[in-house]
Amino acid sequence: MGAVIAVVSGKGGAGKTCLVGGVASCLAAMGRRVLCLDTDAGLRNLDLVLGLGDRVMMDFSDVVEGRCSLEDAFIPHPDIPGLFLLSAPQRGNLPEHVLAGLVPLVKETRCQFDDILLDCPAGLGPGVRVAVQCAERAVVVTGIDPVSLRDAQQTVSLLGDLNVAERHLVINRVQARIVRKMKTNLDDVMDTVSLPLLGVVPEDEQVTLAVSSGKPLVLAAGGGRAATAYLHIAQRLTGMRVPLMRIR
Ligand SMILES: Nc1ncnc2c1ncn2[C@@H]1O[C@H](COP(=O)(O)OP(=O)(O)OP(=O)(O)O)[C@@H](O)[C@H]1O
Ligand SMILES: [Mg+2]
Repeated sequence: MGAVIAVVSGKGGAGKTCLVGGVASCLAAMGRRVLCLDTDAGLRNLDLVLGLGDRVMMDFSDVVEGRCSLEDAFIPHPDIPGLFLLSAPQRGNLPEHVLAGLVPLVKETRCQFDDILLDCPAGLGPGVRVAVQCAERAVVVTGIDPVSLRDAQQTVSLLGDLNVAERHLVINRVQARIVRKMKTNLDDVMDTVSLPLLGVVPEDEQVTLAVSSGKPLVLAAGGGRAATAYLHIAQRLTGMRVPLMRIR
């Protein structure tokens, strides 16, 4: 039965969607069957990060409201066998019953996948709460700046309130030069957020370039250091011991 992992951040733009796309691609390349579920209704973009922007016909609201079957809404990735996307609707402000319908939908889906990664909305609103209720693991994505860290702390409290059993931290867009200038270090960041570290992703322009090329990062020319970091995170999620990457 699939592990359901909610990727959350509090602050918008922390790197959740890129992390979900990158890690899910790596998990699938490792031979696992993986579902990426975009729960960011109104602001979806996991389809773009996976290079599936022109393939979304149905989304999770169509499944919940009975307009199509789950199988019809899954989009298999044409170039990464084992990777599937279930998209979010373009419209935001979903009626409560549609949002709440995500919980039974994820339950029904679990037996079909090894991993289900939920790309959550920013903030602490109902979209995040419902997504987190579907999951038994959560990954909090943050930068090292005080604004991201405060929002990550608030998110960690929410995860506590909602009894998410396993919680981990990913520190994104790390640059050694900035870490030095801010006179901080990754241990301080972990202490501030009070979570164990799952991975560190360096600042890497390839992340943005891959999205604009319409290809998932793992397939984009060059791959790069963020791609390696996503692979390491995928490996750790499956229980492998992988040393932390040195950040330059
Ligand atoms: N490691 C990285 N290096 C460089 N750019 C990055 C990195 N991670 C994310 N980005 C860039 O940051 C921006 C925001 O990333 P992303 O959309 O994944 O964030 P998000 O947390 O999903 O945002 P939202 O809260 O709006 O859903 C994108 O332009 C992306 O290309
Ligand atoms: Mg996003």
